[in-house]
Amino acid sequence: MNRMKTLLAQIGNRKDVRTGAVEPPIYLSTAYQHPTLGQSTGYDYTRTANPTREIVEEAIATLEGGVRGFACASGMAAIQLIFSLFKQQDEIIVTEDIYGGSYRLFEHLQKAYEIKPVYTDPNDIEQKITSHTKALFIETPTNPLLMEIDIEEVAAIAKKHHLLFIVDNTFYTPYLQQPLLLGADIVIHSASKYLGGHNDVLAGLVAVKEESLAERLTYLHNAIGAVLSPLDCMLLIRGMKTLPLRLEQQQANAQELVTFLNKEPQVEEVLYPGKGAMISFRVVDNKLVASFLEKLKIISFAESLGGVESFITYPTTQTHADIPQEELQKRGICNKLLRFSVGIEHVEDLKEDIQQALREN
Ligand SMILES: Cc1ncc(COP(=O)(O)O)c(C=O)c1O
Repeated sequence: MNRMKTLLAQIGNRKDVRTGAVEPPIYLSTAYQHPTLGQSTGYDYTRTANPTREIVEEAIATLEGGVRGFACASGMAAIQLIFSLFKQQDEIIVTEDIYGGSYRLFEHLQKAYEIKPVYTDPNDIEQKITSHTKALFIETPTNPLLMEIDIEEVAAIAKKHHLLFIVDNTFYTPYLQQPLLLGADIVIHSASKYLGGHNDVLAGLVAVKEESLAERLTYLHNAIGAVLSPLDCMLLIRGMKTLPLRLEQQQANAQELVTFLNKEPQVEEVLYPGKGAMISFRVVDNKLVASFLEKLKIISFAESLGGVESFITYPTTQTHADIPQEELQKRGICNKLLRFSVGIEHVEDLKEDIQQALREN
């Protein structure tokens, strides 16, 4: 297998045999003519299969070490696709520090379909298993507290109890972490983040380890229909090619900013797992938050992550707003906590921006 940087740079290259186009064409056609009755070119209707989408799907499968990939209309559509595997009375153990949108979807699935999320501290997973448990779902590092969960340890529990093991790998991407190779069955991504990388495409990706699971998901992906459009596939392909360059620069910036933030008198605590480009930090007083966010000149106060531009998010009122206040407090997501998605800008400009926004208070 080629090294990951090579795989990424060459996604889709030389796929168009007829013309030799280096970059893959965007197939917008929704329908494909059948050669004759009972025959197909392999493409019939674009929801079922599309040549541009296949390039992204093959890429994520290869990058994650899986057998098949699925490109969805958003990260949430990817999670919905996976949760369509479950039925009434099924229980899914979910580690509690997760994206608020996932929490919101799980609450809905419980109310509407009696598919029950069982939230847990990562250390208590095994104690939560019952005869109804069907799967384990984790995000690592956790969000927004950025604690790493040992994927191999959780995989051992999943294997012992014959449970499906699902990992949301949005924050690290396959460049930093490959959960399928550590024992997970399914990896999902909000590709709207690091994989897309430019805050201009909403997308979700899934990769699976086993053929039988791939078959079931192929059926559901087509049946549900929340597939990624060909134009968005191309935006995603373009973004993914430069993932290593972006992420290495973002990570280098993040590591320098951790040292800087630790020395800031107005910063009480810095949370950073040691790799990646996400940092969370607590300011000394929640009264500082509003003016700090308002005064930022380079870093955007905005609600996403993983793009080339730096963003700061306030989880309690933004990404995690759908989790009840008392749950947030219990989980340590307090109103002094900010989440920083570090971009590729010059790190000195980022430091100066934070400094002026904190100091003028
Ligand atoms: C870790 C994680 N998973 C899933 C999602 C949902 O992805 P999307 O916004 O692409 O639907 C997000 C979005 O912020 C996320 O941060």
